[in-house]
Amino acid sequence: MAASGCKVRLQPSSSELTCRGDQTLLDACIQIGLPVPYNCRSGECGECMAKLVNGDVQELPGADPAIFTDTHRAQGNILTCMCFPLSDIVLDLPLLESETSSIRPATFNTLVQNVERLTPTIIGVAVETPWPVEFHAGQCFEWVVPGVTPNRTYSAANRPGTDTITFHVRVYPGGKIGDFVQSLSPGGMLELLGPFGHFGFSGNDWRPAVCVAGGTGLAPMMSLLDRAFAARDKRPIHLLYGARTQDELYCLDVLQGWAKQHANFTFTPVLSDEPAQSGWSGSRGLVADVMADHLGDVFGLEAYICGPPPMIDAAVTRLQDAGVLDADIRTDRFVQAKT
Ligand code: FES
Repeated sequence: MAASGCKVRLQPSSSELTCRGDQTLLDACIQIGLPVPYNCRSGECGECMAKLVNGDVQELPGADPAIFTDTHRAQGNILTCMCFPLSDIVLDLPLLESETSSIRPATFNTLVQNVERLTPTIIGVAVETPWPVEFHAGQCFEWVVPGVTPNRTYSAANRPGTDTITFHVRVYPGGKIGDFVQSLSPGGMLELLGPFGHFGFSGNDWRPAVCVAGGTGLAPMMSLLDRAFAARDKRPIHLLYGARTQDELYCLDVLQGWAKQHANFTFTPVLSDEPAQSGWSGSRGLVADVMADHLGDVFGLEAYICGPPPMIDAAVTRLQDAGVLDADIRTDRFVQAKT
């Protein structure tokens, strides 16, 4: 390997780049703004899979064996998010036809503005950026926290174009990020790297959208909605937000306010494990099932789903059963960090 890194050529676009030895192939592509497919960046979704046409790579351990199997390996496939180059590389990796420009990720420092507990396990963090950081609604940022590796990734929960970014952080018992988040206070510093990701509304603002969010999957939905309302996007939008119990629902005041203000927006909270005698009069059950009950005519429908993978898989199945095309279903899988 040359000191500067390995040469990587992508087919069929003939795009060429250099990948450092300490960089995954995916990160090298993202770094120069190439519109390559990816989602989780941690071996959990399979969206970054490519065929290794030429060259050698070192694969990091940890890819989900249900997503990336030895059969894939035997066929010459790699997950670009899990591989470092050991030589010059040729990859069969078609570029996405992106509706939006790719923004090159950058590292920058922010000032913590506000920290608030949104639910017993979700903390909201708002940071002030040194300038209105460029990102697309629905994208995410890595938190660069000393002692926490790999970097944790959180979606922005507000629209781009301001000097504030808000995050919704799920805190797990014993999780490395939990102590850090709870130690944050206004005036503290937080280093961010980003933006990353392709999740976002299509440019088809005449087509109805059904949005399904679970847990902190609400964050990118809030960003999409905030951006859509600010841009006077008139597509009919129905958001179904799933949680287990009432105390896990958050941002209800904002969502209910938007539903009152915007005739094109409806909102249905759905609880799966709320006690029968609690007085909850809203929808009950799995959010994917409730979504299916609300679908009606799916002609022209686009679907946006964000949250834990089992919820996403259930919702995608319901949508496919109803006749929604795969090309009209966009997902953002939230995977719990392994360490
Ligand atoms: S498996 Fe590589 S981006 Fe998800």
